[in-house]
Amino acid sequence: MCTRPGRLQNSYRRLFAAVYDRAMASAERRCLGAWRRELLEQAQGAVLEIGSGTGSNLPHYPPGLTRLVLGEPDPFMCQQLQKKLTAAPLPAVICTHGAEQLPFPAASFDTVVSTLVLCSVDSPQAALEEIRRVLRPGGCLLFLEHVLSDQPATRRWQRFWEPLWKQVACNCHLTRDTAATIRSGGFVLEQLDELQIAGAPAILRRVLRGMAVKCGWKILSPDTLLRGEVTKHGNFTCI
Ligand SMILES: C[S@@+](CC[C@H](N)C(=O)[O-])C[C@H]1O[C@@H](n2cnc3c(N)ncnc32)[C@H](O)[C@@H]1O
Repeated sequence: MCTRPGRLQNSYRRLFAAVYDRAMASAERRCLGAWRRELLEQAQGAVLEIGSGTGSNLPHYPPGLTRLVLGEPDPFMCQQLQKKLTAAPLPAVICTHGAEQLPFPAASFDTVVSTLVLCSVDSPQAALEEIRRVLRPGGCLLFLEHVLSDQPATRRWQRFWEPLWKQVACNCHLTRDTAATIRSGGFVLEQLDELQIAGAPAILRRVLRGMAVKCGWKILSPDTLLRGEVTKHGNFTCI
């Protein structure tokens, strides 16, 4: 049975999912739609998207994917996603697990996609660990995330507003240094574009878009660690 805060939270989540597309419409037209398309052109093979939300990425996937799994743990977002999927010509399936606990064997995807999600997960480190696990060696994470500003004054405002913003925007954090978290999670950043959402408030404006490739480590001795990539054929290349 739902507790009162649970019921309130559910009503709020339902509302968030219902208004999400309308709230994002202007930013999608101005820039986000084009950024998504350019990013997702690089998706290939078996693809897992985490936190698919209402399915804003669906129109931008290229043809020829061998598998498309859409992860979305929020039931209200899932309802919106299911509606879009019914209308879309993509053979995709929905998975309701959160990114921190993915129900897939290791190395089962070629591409993982995360757009505006690593700001909202409880633990970006745990999510990246799982993403890394389910990616095949050399597989890539395609991401588009709003992040901590590089302007000290804006950072101060981000820290000020974050506690309230998290409540109204379903756990969205304003101060995450996502590129650093991706790097330290065992990925090499092969592409990184720094973008600004036109017309957005300064605390939400800075966006990073890129491709991160799963890399490996080779232990040479207890105090020497080599960082490198494991190729498709199992060879280790130092970076
Ligand atoms: C701001 S919305 C972004 C939706 C969509 N990816 C987009 O680009 O428009 C954040 C999404 O992350 C989802 N989310 C939150 N926590 C998550 C978690 N632990 N694992 C996976 N998704 C999560 C939310 O349910 C929500 O759908």
